[in-house]
Amino acid sequence: MSKTVYVLNGPNLNLLGLRQPEIYGAETLEDVESAVRRTADQFGLTVRFFQSNAEHDLIGWIQEARTAAGGIVINPAAYSHTSVAILDALNACDCPVLEVHISNIHKREEFRHHSFVSRRADGVIAGFGAQGYELAIIRMARLLEDG
Ligand code: DQA
Repeated sequence: MSKTVYVLNGPNLNLLGLRQPEIYGAETLEDVESAVRRTADQFGLTVRFFQSNAEHDLIGWIQEARTAAGGIVINPAAYSHTSVAILDALNACDCPVLEVHISNIHKREEFRHHSFVSRRADGVIAGFGAQGYELAIIRMARLLEDG
């Protein structure tokens, strides 16, 4: 079982810390990456951390993860609510998939309540702020240990 975890971030998450901080907080994506790496180190996991505003990049990394990763942590951002293509790519992966949302999408607009990715995700974390990524890594470590 590979101990490499792909951590994938969708559109506009490059603006974390600048974009609607009242919703997404003050931490930048670089801060998130550092925290993820720190947590992953504690569990002996290797992280490959990516962000893209383009759906095809995310699909490419998911397809790569099929053979290169033991697990996927993904914040698909707005693509959560729109992308059957990302769902299909995740469905082609056998590894554990954990979905992260910084904000509590269920407390927000109706159109954010549905996530295509949740049909595949083994677990969903929403509303824990940027800390949700660290929690996802802790959970992933447990899943990879058991597997
Ligand atoms: C988000 C929630 C999505 O609805 C939104 O489009 C995002 C970020 C979150 O992390 O809370 O870009 O995935």
